[in-house]
Amino acid sequence: HEGALADRYGRVATDLRVSLTDRCNLRCTYCMPAEGLSWLPKPELLTDDEVSRLIRVAVQRLGVTEVRFTGGEPLIRPGLPDIVAAAAALTPRPTLSVTTNGIGLDRVAGSLRAAGLDRVNVSLDTVDAERFTRLTRRSRFADVLAGLAGAVAAGLTPVKINAVLIRGVNDDEAPELLRFALRHGYQLRFIEQMPLDAQHGWDRDRMVTAEEILAALRAEHTLLPDPAVRGAAPAETWLVAGHTDAAGQPARVGVIASVTRPFCGDCDRTRLTADGQVRDCLFATTESDLRGALRGGADDAELADRWRAAMWGKRAGHGIDDPGFLQPARPMSAIGG
Ligand code: GTP
Ligand code: 5AD
Ligand code: SF4
Repeated sequence: HEGALADRYGRVATDLRVSLTDRCNLRCTYCMPAEGLSWLPKPELLTDDEVSRLIRVAVQRLGVTEVRFTGGEPLIRPGLPDIVAAAAALTPRPTLSVTTNGIGLDRVAGSLRAAGLDRVNVSLDTVDAERFTRLTRRSRFADVLAGLAGAVAAGLTPVKINAVLIRGVNDDEAPELLRFALRHGYQLRFIEQMPLDAQHGWDRDRMVTAEEILAALRAEHTLLPDPAVRGAAPAETWLVAGHTDAAGQPARVGVIASVTRPFCGDCDRTRLTADGQVRDCLFATTESDLRGALRGGADDAELADRWRAAMWGKRAGHGIDDPGFLQPARPMSAIGG
């Protein structure tokens, strides 16, 4: 490739996260209001071919080696299998993964695997069916369980579960979630809630911290240091003594402590929104319009130049602790996590 996605702090982005839609079939209370949000109009969304072209530019000209598809909920995008197949056909072939709420995954896991998908991460905050309905405002718990099982059956492994604990809602559930994950061979990670909700209701003092979660887990399990290299991964992981995963490897559990133990210094991410804007960070307050350039006739070299320029301006960190911190205009559901 001609030039990497470097920034002025010496970081290089090799991990592209592509949001394929801002819509979702759940309404998690900590994410968006019951009525949903004002969704992007269809003409503003990149077409499947446009998405695939930008992924090709990222892989062939900018050194991107991993592509993760996110949403909203990426499985509701009809073109997902085709977009995966186009990315899998690239040389060099990027690693391909999806972050999903798991609904419908049992039905598409096989075709996604056949299209070249490597792995899935599934969001699940509770293993109590009634609590799930209250938290997501939809009675789809059984669908998520089926999705998880379908992912394993299709070989989209290791299957990881992402859980956010919300005080007063599911903050007591860390041990129960871990028991569930160990029983089924899923790798569980707890995510600290970030100020990215559409309602702007985040409150640092109410956030369930990684330290609290680890203390609750340690009351029941021995967590051993993980010898695997963390690299730029947001998750800090531990081995759960006495447990193995489906492949017979030591079972792992992790925390993604974005707020209390930020990992921005090692960040290797670049993001593309469903409407074709490059974001240099989850918390970026500016975006760079690749859709306009693309539809205006820019060639691949020019798109790559614009993408490089966008990443050069990336800030050192998310700034959540800075006095003048402002939440970005786009909520998590429209950025893709
Ligand atoms: P793996 O390759 O499986 O480790 O994926 P991942 O953990 O990077 O991806 P996933 O989509 O599962 O991300 C899980 C959660 O981590 C997201 O929902 C976010 O809450 C958080 N996260 C992901 N990327 C970033 C990031 O760049 N910055 C911060 N602060 N949090 C992130
Ligand atoms: N902070 C951290 N994680 C969040 N997610 C949604 N909103 C937030 C937030 N404000 C999680 C979802 C899902 C993933 C895509 O992001 O629970 O696991
Ligand atoms: Fe829930 Fe994720 Fe959908 Fe938000 S985008 S409502 S967190 S499943």
